[in-house]
This record gives sequence, structure tokens and C-alpha cells, in this order.
Amino acid sequence: MNALLEIKDLHANVEGKEILKGVSLTIPPGEIHAIMGPNGSGKSTLSYTLMGHPKYQITSGDILLDGKSILDASTDERARLGIFLCFQYPTSIPGVTVTNFLRTVLKNIRGEDVPVKQFRKELKEGMEYLQMREDFARRYVNDGFSGGEKKRHEILQMALMKPKLAVLDEVDSGLDIDALRIIASGIEGLREENRSMLVITHYQRILDYLTLDKVHVFMDGKIQTSGGKELVEKLEKDGYDWVMKEGTKA
Ligand SMILES: Nc1ncnc2c1ncn2[C@@H]1O[C@H](COP(=O)(O)OP(=O)(O)O)[C@@H](O)[C@H]1O
Ligand SMILES: [Mg+2]
Repeated sequence: MNALLEIKDLHANVEGKEILKGVSLTIPPGEIHAIMGPNGSGKSTLSYTLMGHPKYQITSGDILLDGKSILDASTDERARLGIFLCFQYPTSIPGVTVTNFLRTVLKNIRGEDVPVKQFRKELKEGMEYLQMREDFARRYVNDGFSGGEKKRHEILQMALMKPKLAVLDEVDSGLDIDALRIIASGIEGLREENRSMLVITHYQRILDYLTLDKVHVFMDGKIQTSGGKELVEKLEKDGYDWVMKEGTKA
């Protein structure tokens, strides 16, 4: 069976400096994988590179979605192919309401206008699913949103977009425990046979609420080791130092 996402020995530069140093990762359809790693190891660089951000230049390797290389596809095209990136630092768009923003996003993704009635229904369902109040839809995107509201808005976007691949970069940062639970169960509930997710995090907390198929440890620009959920506990207990030591032994 084809992998949904296959990253092959990916190297990428940011402003002339190599940050990704040979990332290889395969995610079959329907699986949720976690990437854990220290700050500055290149996790966000990997998510931006997956999305095709022009600042991140691939020097070698490949990214395949459903067996086809996406390296030549623009960020827009990648979104239409079904890749969704939840940003670590979402930007605010004063003057644009959540409703108008999401309607525009959906139109771009689906390539056609979504009829108002149908859109309202989808939006209402999504907001109820994430336990959001109705007036949220009339607020300006990320303008004065709390940390939890920003992340809920991102997951709402994901629920409406129905991506094939969701890359969630530190979706758990700055959340209190209740918001974390809602976000995590929101993510878990969006699991589907033909959807894969990559949950990138610095902390183990959110992973307690997710059924993970695989855990990868990301350090110094690549995945150094992979395993099951037991890896999360080991990292929590022993930190990251052992990873590089065992890596050099192999
Ligand atoms: N847009 C950028 N401009 C300059 N340097 C960057 C940029 N993005 C990432 N880097 C550098 O790449 C390295 C990895 O950063 P990042 O991918 O954000 O790590 P992580 O998400 O694991 O904390 C850091 O040294 C960071 O300074
Ligand atoms: Mg990051």
C-alpha cells in the first residue's frame, strides 16, 4: 500500500544555512505520528518546508504525497492537494471575520464557492464540535484571541478543510489543561482512514490525549530515532541526551 506522506532524505536551507539534514519519514494513511524534539532542532522548518514556504530551500531529497512528488507545487497547490499546516504562531487579520476568512479559505481549497446555507451549516457543526460560542464567528481572525481561541480556530479550519495530511506545529503551546483537552480530542476526532496527521511538539502533555501510531525524535535537523508511545515517557524521564549518544553507537 502507498504511504500517504513519504519524505526521502530531505535537506533544506534557510538563508544559506542547512537546517534539515536528511529527514526521512513515512506516514501511512490514517495514522497519527508525533515528532518531539528540543527547541531549535528544525521542527518548524520541516513543517514550513512541507508547505512550500519560499524561504526554505530544498537542496536534495523528495516529498511525496500519495506517491507523487510535490516539490514543484506552490503552497497554494499543496493546500489544494490536501496538506494543511497549523501554525505555531498564527497571525491576526484585523477587519476580516472568522466567517469570511473560513469561507474564502474553503473556496480556494475546493475551487468553487460554497453556497451560504451549506457553509453556515458546516461552520455551525465545526464550532459546536470544538465547543466554541456562536459570536466567535463574528470576531476578527486572531485579533485579541487567547492562546486557546487561536488554536481552536486552527482546528476549526482543519475540520472544515478536511485535509489528507494535517501538520500540527506546537498546537499545544500556551494552552491551559481544559483547552488542551478540547484541542486534543478535536484532533483525535478528526482521525480518518484516509487522513494522516503529524503532531509536532516540545512537550509530552498533548500526546497523553492522542492515540499515536508512532513517535519520532527530531534533533539536529533530522529524525534520530523512532518508536512507539513508550518513547514519550522515556524522553520525559531521561531528556534528549541519550538519543544522540545511542545514535552515534549505531
Ligand atoms: N525564517 C528563518 N530565518 C532564519 N533562520 C531560521 C528561520 N527559520 C528557522 N531558522 C533557524 O533554523 C533553526 C531551527 O529552527 P526551527 O525550525 O524553528 O526549530 P524548532 O521548531 O525545532 O524549534 C534555528 O536555528 C532557527 O534560527
Ligand atoms: Mg518550532
